[in-house]
Amino acid sequence: MIGDIRIWPPLVLAPMAGATNHAFRLLARECGDVGLVVCEMISSYGLYYNNERTLDMFDWTDAERPVSVQIFGAVPEIVAEAARKAEDAGVDMIDINMGCWVPKVVRTGACAALLKDLKQARAVIEACVNATSLPVTVKTRKGWDLREACAVDVARIAEDAGVKAITIHGRAASQGFNGQSDSSVIAEVKQAVSIPVIGNGDIRTVDDVERMFRETGCDGVMLGRSALGNPFIFREVWAWLDRGERTGPPTAQERARAALRHTVLQVEALGEERGIREMRGLLPHYIKGLENAARIRHALTQVRTVADVQKLLSQVAELDCEHNLAERAAVNSGERAA
Ligand SMILES: Cc1cc2nc3c(=O)[nH]c(=O)nc-3n(C[C@H](O)[C@H](O)[C@H](O)COP(=O)(O)O)c2cc1C
Repeated sequence: MIGDIRIWPPLVLAPMAGATNHAFRLLARECGDVGLVVCEMISSYGLYYNNERTLDMFDWTDAERPVSVQIFGAVPEIVAEAARKAEDAGVDMIDINMGCWVPKVVRTGACAALLKDLKQARAVIEACVNATSLPVTVKTRKGWDLREACAVDVARIAEDAGVKAITIHGRAASQGFNGQSDSSVIAEVKQAVSIPVIGNGDIRTVDDVERMFRETGCDGVMLGRSALGNPFIFREVWAWLDRGERTGPPTAQERARAALRHTVLQVEALGEERGIREMRGLLPHYIKGLENAARIRHALTQVRTVADVQKLLSQVAELDCEHNLAERAAVNSGERAA
């Protein structure tokens, strides 16, 4: 439960700038078994000043619910106003970003910069909680750097301020995406607070999810990069956790179909020109790891129209058939030899 909202399965799609917009969140829901989806980070200043580009991101439908909007900012009154706008716009909960380490953002005092000033962090969190009746959550990292892990302090401050759940990515901000995510800090946070704790960082497989739950005692798990190009991962994870079923990863044909659906949703939301431009960075994820796909992968970064995407993806499906035929041939020849 996050506030009075039941999150089930306890699996969360991570906020990812440039990726978890309306189209991808809906796709993750359609592909099944995700308990909560979080939109990409949104600037509290952008909301405060009704910036058109920011308001564009304020775009969800009932089919995505429960859906959380992640906001970032360093000024308590501005964050509070952004939270009020999010509530008026009908979102289910609000997440405060305290993990982004990108210099352009950190320079403003927002996101992971708040880990260097816990007094300011408290002021931002309190202002947000007091501005809305929706559940507020916080997403943060192990600490600013590896010398001083402050995730436990942040979690205590958040709980004290009325935050309803906290997500911990087990890397320090100074690590960016380098090194490994440390799940022991997630276990420490779980011991320190009684609000739900969501574990995050480096979860790529069903076994990683199981390990995260077992080693940290966390209440939920958040997946980011492993869902890019594979929104089916939640279904695969849940089949294992819920029913002990190993469904295995999707076939290339399923991936190609999901990629096309993603493209269509994106174009519906943003128009063909912008929608396809944004898909160029996302489509190659769908054929990651597929043999003989290098040419198609490159071509997907150059597409201009839905028809271009469709043509290339039909070749992915053919690759899958070739792969299946090769596998079947190998099995058959094995059978004949036997
Ligand atoms: C492309 C990309 C964009 C991201 N954008 C955000 C963001 O907007 N807000 C946020 O809190 N974290 C963001 N993250 C971090 C993820 O939410 C997550 O914490 C991180 O990727 C670790 O989880 P993973 O190993 O499952 O990917 C982003 C990560 C990636 C790869």
